Amino acid sequence: MTLLQSLPQPVIFAHRGASAYAPENTLAAFELAVRQGADAIELDAKLSADGRVIVIHDQTVDRTTGASGSVQNLTLAQLRELDAGSFFAPEFRGEKIPTLEEIFESFAKRALINVELSNHYTPRDNLVEEVCKTIKRFNIQDQILFSSFHPTSLAKAQALLPDIPCGLLANTDFRAAIVRSFVFNFGNYQALHPHLKTVSPQQVRRVHRIRRRVHVYTVNEEHHLRKLFHWGVDGVFTDDPPLALRVRGEKG
Ligand code: G3P
Ligand code: MG
Repeated sequence: MTLLQSLPQPVIFAHRGASAYAPENTLAAFELAVRQGADAIELDAKLSADGRVIVIHDQTVDRTTGASGSVQNLTLAQLRELDAGSFFAPEFRGEKIPTLEEIFESFAKRALINVELSNHYTPRDNLVEEVCKTIKRFNIQDQILFSSFHPTSLAKAQALLPDIPCGLLANTDFRAAIVRSFVFNFGNYQALHPHLKTVSPQQVRRVHRIRRRVHVYTVNEEHHLRKLFHWGVDGVFTDDPPLALRVRGEKG
């Protein structure tokens, strides 16, 4: 049984950490998520200009640091000078954009880590190779779940580390993603990660029929959580792990 299967179900993934309570994709947000009892943390991995794996959602640093510039044009040293906490609340001033290594050092033994390969605009870069190297160095293959909107990135990851499960992210067109997945051999993915807006009970049943998992993003409302748990989804990404844990606790 993999870690993913052995966790409480449905799995609660802290989306960018406990991002309702702390600045997204920072050590503070991941630490809080683990302390709150999230089963897994989700992070967005990208490459800096000098080829280091860092964790940030947007293509630019503008929204979360108040500076400006494209992540891919800034070196690790430049990114590390930025304040990734103040945009959220003054008490988080000085939080840094983390490296993937820092996340692994602090959390690999404490929660499943969903590494989203988020090189959407640079799909030919070395992100996947660098992420896989780092995972091997830490020897934490059994603690990781990959995801991506890009089948190409997932295929690369599967070639390099075939034992790590992969989830295909689908944006608002979940139906198209299912069709595409069948066409391009859905068998390679252990899970589908649909957007909340597009998921339906029929689609959950369909994915379950082929013995794959459904992890839905991003679910922050109590009534949505209750509905999805009722439909039998296998996991949810949420900014608010305590809320999802409470609703899961009421289940059954
Ligand atoms: O992995 C779920 C979710 O993080 C995907 O969308 O844009 O928040 O990375 P985004
Ligand atoms: Mg993400």
